[in-house]
Amino acid sequence: MRTVSDRPAIEVRDLHKYFGELEVLRGIDFRVQHGEVVCVIGPSGSGKSTLLRCINLLEPPSSGHVYVGGVEVTHPDVDIDAVRRKIGMLFQAFNLFPHLTVLQNLTIAQRRVLKRDKTEAIRVARDNLARVGLSEKEGSYPAQLSGGQQQRVAIARALSMGPDLMLFDEPTSALDPELVGDVLAVMRKLANEGMTMMVVTHEMSFAREVADRVAFMDGGMIVEEGEPAQVIGSPRHARTRTFLRRVLDPAAAEVGEVPDTGPAPRVDDAATPPAPRTVHGHYPG
Ligand SMILES: Nc1ncnc2c1ncn2[C@@H]1O[C@H](COP(=O)(O)OP(=O)(O)OP(=O)(O)O)[C@@H](O)[C@H]1O
Ligand SMILES: [Mg+2]
Repeated sequence: MRTVSDRPAIEVRDLHKYFGELEVLRGIDFRVQHGEVVCVIGPSGSGKSTLLRCINLLEPPSSGHVYVGGVEVTHPDVDIDAVRRKIGMLFQAFNLFPHLTVLQNLTIAQRRVLKRDKTEAIRVARDNLARVGLSEKEGSYPAQLSGGQQQRVAIARALSMGPDLMLFDEPTSALDPELVGDVLAVMRKLANEGMTMMVVTHEMSFAREVADRVAFMDGGMIVEEGEPAQVIGSPRHARTRTFLRRVLDPAAAEVGEVPDTGPAPRVDDAATPPAPRTVHGHYPG
């Protein structure tokens, strides 16, 4: 397997994906550089999750090429397990094992997949639990944690595998509003540490503050991408403006009074998620 370090962390070329007759990705060209944080926004059904899932081959692309760290994952001879070990993936659902403690959830894949010995796996797990502010929960079972805590455990579990990059698919959208800030704070910290991140999110304030770049998807295409202040603050395309108006002012969208002209409302004015809170004394670092 060839790795070329000067290649982007993620490179997608002319990616198409069909589900039966339905073409859900219609020629995506997209890159994420090492250390870059890219937020992907767009309406429901626009293909955001499918794009993420094609990057680690959870969905096989219909045509086109995907490279991760310079390795072509769409090449027929690729060792996809080796590529996936480099990619941390976070979903809306946390997918923790309910019958295992937090610590066991963090060590099981390290031991089975990376063949780490028990002492090393526990050391790595504890380091990463500290990173997400949940050291004292290592003996708890997932059902004993809040949704936000479970999602932070899921982040710590992904980090324990030592990924080169992280893919997030709406990691906060299943959470009660007051729990969102803690998870976003962990993600912000990861971004500040230089982790390469591709984040599908509806959290516009997070995208605006943390992303190096924002890509807006609609109808299986990337309609526009650029600096967050530009894409969110003064989008070029009418479709982006319409979407942002709906996200930033859902009440207006529900009654169908959303004209497709004029600037989008400023992100600061609406839909600001709760400010991150410091929990358990040693977080965020
Ligand atoms: N496994 C599948 N089989 C058939 N159609 C699918 C499958 N997965 C997704 N689709 C369809 O592909 C399109 C894109 O779906 P996708 O989940 O990528 O959208 P999305 O942008 O992530 O939406 P959301 O914001 O609701 O999560 C949708 O029309 C969806 O119904
Ligand atoms: Mg989705």
